[in-house]
Amino acid sequence: MLYRNILEKLGKTPMVKIEPRDLGQINLYAKLEFYNPTGSVKDRAAFHILKKALKLNKINKDTSIIESSSGNFGVSLSAYCKEFGLKFYCVVDPQICTANEYLIKTLGAKMVKVTEPDENGGYLLNRIKKVKELLKKIPNSYWVNQYRNPYNSEAYRETLGKEICNELDEVDYAFLGVSSGGTITGVSQKIAEKFPMAKIIAVDMVGSVIFGGRPQKRYIPGIGSSMVPDILKDAHINEVITIDEASTIEMCHELLREHNLFIGGSSGSVFSAVKKYFSGKKFKKKPNVVVVFADRGDRYINTVYNEDWCDNFCQNNFKLKKL
Ligand SMILES: Cc1ncc(COP(=O)(O)O)c(C=O)c1O
Repeated sequence: MLYRNILEKLGKTPMVKIEPRDLGQINLYAKLEFYNPTGSVKDRAAFHILKKALKLNKINKDTSIIESSSGNFGVSLSAYCKEFGLKFYCVVDPQICTANEYLIKTLGAKMVKVTEPDENGGYLLNRIKKVKELLKKIPNSYWVNQYRNPYNSEAYRETLGKEICNELDEVDYAFLGVSSGGTITGVSQKIAEKFPMAKIIAVDMVGSVIFGGRPQKRYIPGIGSSMVPDILKDAHINEVITIDEASTIEMCHELLREHNLFIGGSSGSVFSAVKKYFSGKKFKKKPNVVVVFADRGDRYINTVYNEDWCDNFCQNNFKLKKL
């Protein structure tokens, strides 16, 4: 297939069957979102939000795009803003990983780093404060605001949700990690439309407040949040499973060891949630279970895949099994 530009190779990611020995009672299918152009599920939102905002004249070629993100969304927006010829201000904090800092800068975004922790001990509130300051200061600026922007979830309803519904004859369960809520809101809407009996399971991280949990320090980016996303009110969610960082790490390593899948942190959380949910359950007919693996392991090489980090920094000071 010939593409004019790599950023056009968006979506239509592979769906693979995974057959873990202890999950023989289900058919498990994983949508591999790291096959998107910048390596994550967030490319879908970045492309759709910018395209929609241009079409609706909410922005023009001289607009400065502003968003707070230390992770995948910052990388996706940097690439797609560059493609659309838009200036991008990415508000980050000191917890940003080296790879993302390098990618965001190299892709031409202006990086604004917040250094003071907020009253909750995290940085999110101060990052939002900084976004609001920039909006006041920079004329013709536009805040993407992934937590509230309806085009965030629309991106997933119209692309990822559609793909899943077309690729499987039946969906009985879908497990999705939640941060801004865009993926689960859009995908769950599409699945509910085509497979109304399907159960949607939200996967959150210990320490995230999205589903009413107590705030606690979290070290693995991409999943969970210290604020409740507004767009989540339109999601179809049947159950929430909260996973800790230790089991997330354990499952990341298992997926690599046993299934050749070098995936990012949130994919380990989702896999852990599937195991927790189906453990001891029996079915007359194997249900079809779909999971979304949002990114690849490379950006976690100094954390989830690093022995010293696991021993010292993750929530439960996880002891990584020697391979
Ligand atoms: C690795 C990873 N997993 C899951 C998600 C969750 O996606 P959403 O923000 O659509 O809820 C994100 C979002 O940034 C992510 O980076």
